[in-house]
Amino acid sequence: MSDRYAVIGNPVAHSKSPAIHAEFARATGQDIDYARIEAPLDGFADAIARFRAAGGKGCNVTLPFKQEAVRIAGRLSERARLAQAVNTLRFEDSFGDNTDGIGLVRDLAGNMGVDLRGKSLLILGAGGAAQGVAGALLVAGLRRLVIANRTLSKAQALAERFPGVRARGYQALAGERFDVVVNATSAGLAGESPALPAGLLDEKTVAYDMVYGRDTPFLVQARAAGARAVDGIGMLVEQAAESFFLWRGVRPSTRAVLEKLRGS
Ligand code: ATR
Repeated sequence: MSDRYAVIGNPVAHSKSPAIHAEFARATGQDIDYARIEAPLDGFADAIARFRAAGGKGCNVTLPFKQEAVRIAGRLSERARLAQAVNTLRFEDSFGDNTDGIGLVRDLAGNMGVDLRGKSLLILGAGGAAQGVAGALLVAGLRRLVIANRTLSKAQALAERFPGVRARGYQALAGERFDVVVNATSAGLAGESPALPAGLLDEKTVAYDMVYGRDTPFLVQARAAGARAVDGIGMLVEQAAESFFLWRGVRPSTRAVLEKLRGS
């Protein structure tokens, strides 16, 4: 029988993870079965226990359970501890990891050719998505890392956890410029964009939206300003590759999967 994995979330019907992992398995000759499990909002721990009992080897965890998964893991990677969020569980040793941050860094550096060393980077947002990637960005060799949020106190609370990181409100960004601006807010899901000061994005900026599969107002705004604008599909594929490696000890190539998802 194939080794069983799954993505557990709510909602989870739209998840591209089963298709991505199936493609990784095919390309690397690994015999796995990867399903979607929608857990009730108050039933995450039960869903994990049931999947384990049914022979599951590990799972990806998505919204809204990434914080709860921290408590389920017996042992956490350093990056999951920093993020206070787990997106990958390996059951054999009760290991919890977070591959979101490294997924973003690999997409920027590997797929987009953006060398982060010595660069300035701005994270927009201070919720779960921002928290999940801040630690990985911090060790990527940046010269400057700033977290800006509509609610300044949340940016301050997040920045305090990472040495050298500064917090700002959006209007306090006027006159500043950054090499890379990462939108980690959920604004795009509501068809909105963070209220950024004019001039923040220009033709030298790499503008990255962690949301994927839709042309968010942030990306539209970035493109209109001449910036290089890209959505988060590459991050999705890269975080999946790192999870696959954790489970199988084999690192799949991401290029073909990414090209397929981008329809190119
Ligand atoms: P996630 O896990 O997706 O990060 P979250 O923890 O609810 O979700 O955080 C949502 C983030 O998007 C927050 O930073 C939120 O800003 P506030 O803390 O000020 O609420 C941000 N956000 C959501 N809608 C936004 C909008 N229309 N404009 C700017 N920021 C927005």
